Amino acid sequence: MSDYRVAIIGAGPAGLLLSQLLHVAGIDFVILERRTREYVESRIRAGVLEGTTVGLLDRVGVADRLHAEGLPHGGFALASEEGVVRIDVAGLTGRSVTVYGQTEVTRDLIEACIARGGRIEFAAEDVALHDIDSASPSVSWRQDGVERHLSCDFIAACDGYHGVGRATMPPAVLRTFEREYPFGWLGVLADVPPCDHELIYANHERGFALASMRSPTRSRYYVQVPSSERVENWSDERFWDELALRLGPDLARGLVRGPSIEKSIAPLRSFVAEPMRHGRLFLAGDAAHIVPPTGAKGLNLAASDAAMLADALIAFYARGDTAALEGYSARALARIWKAERFSWWFTGLMHRFPETDAFARRMQVAELAYIRGSAAAQMSIAENYVGLPLE
Ligand code: APR
Ligand code: PHB
Repeated sequence: MSDYRVAIIGAGPAGLLLSQLLHVAGIDFVILERRTREYVESRIRAGVLEGTTVGLLDRVGVADRLHAEGLPHGGFALASEEGVVRIDVAGLTGRSVTVYGQTEVTRDLIEACIARGGRIEFAAEDVALHDIDSASPSVSWRQDGVERHLSCDFIAACDGYHGVGRATMPPAVLRTFEREYPFGWLGVLADVPPCDHELIYANHERGFALASMRSPTRSRYYVQVPSSERVENWSDERFWDELALRLGPDLARGLVRGPSIEKSIAPLRSFVAEPMRHGRLFLAGDAAHIVPPTGAKGLNLAASDAAMLADALIAFYARGDTAALEGYSARALARIWKAERFSWWFTGLMHRFPETDAFARRMQVAELAYIRGSAAAQMSIAENYVGLPLE
């Protein structure tokens, strides 16, 4: 008999949501997290939840604050020098997204997990995975200078891009696919009202900009910067000036400036590792794939992976059914690749690349004009933005 049925590595959205899906199904787990609780709860990440993600948080009973404080959004704008087109997500799909920070999702899940008696070992150093090829894998780690070890039936590596899970898989079984983009997003969080009631994605000759928000009094803005850029070069004043230029005079009229409470640069990358399973080790979330943030799919993919893995584990413990565990990687990857395509396409449409020459620019202009005039094109964007079904 193992100590726990499932050892989950990482207390990000993938690991935490998986833990609660298992909890409601009566399957015990332990979470090992390298960072402290304070660190995990203060990381600033994206903030647009697909309806499917909200549904999963409802399923585990961790959506009260989300429903009270989250902002339902029925559309967003694509802006460029040629004009603005609104994508009427709700009108086209009958569904909406919810603006609620990943930081808040993480806090809510940690609080629920601990309140329900779940075990999360924070500050777990040097986590190592053992015997993943066997029927009795185990995990070891160090905490406060003490070596610890426990056995489990399965290991879920929800430990992000730099985690130990993918690194433990034999290189010969892994295939990776990657695109690096020659720019990053400089993000600023500020306690000022958002410049618009919906999100605005802007393609400008000086580079991409995004106007987003966390609440009616807290805004989140981004501007595209070269990969080599350093955050120290960006005073608040320089950031607000640049953002206003890229949004253009009409949209910038509603811009309220204020001191930044967070400022950082995130690189953009597309990455997929296949397969997402080896023996009794399963990968979920950023551990297996990264999307550029254009379209906000990262957290939502972490949630859909967690749901698919939970369903497979539940089928195994309920009926001894191994088919879903065996099919997990293929099922998850089918949805992941579609989100990878959308995020890559949306990034290409809205950013200025070093190689965006006159022809490439005309292609962007033509595509935006086509989107403006085509209900079919708008529907294609809307159904991807709101989230493809969990097939
Ligand atoms: N041992 C234990 N924990 C680890 C280790 C390790 N070796 N390596 C990483 N971790 C932890 C990290 O500290 C982090 O808390 O795993 C967690 C992974 O969480 P996330 O990076 O949030 O990844 P995930 O849960 O897959 O969520 C994906 O997060 O990065 C964003 O944009 C991304 O929105 C997406 C979401
Ligand atoms: C954010 O609010 O941080 C955000 C919103 C939409 C995106 C990416 C990030 O596409």
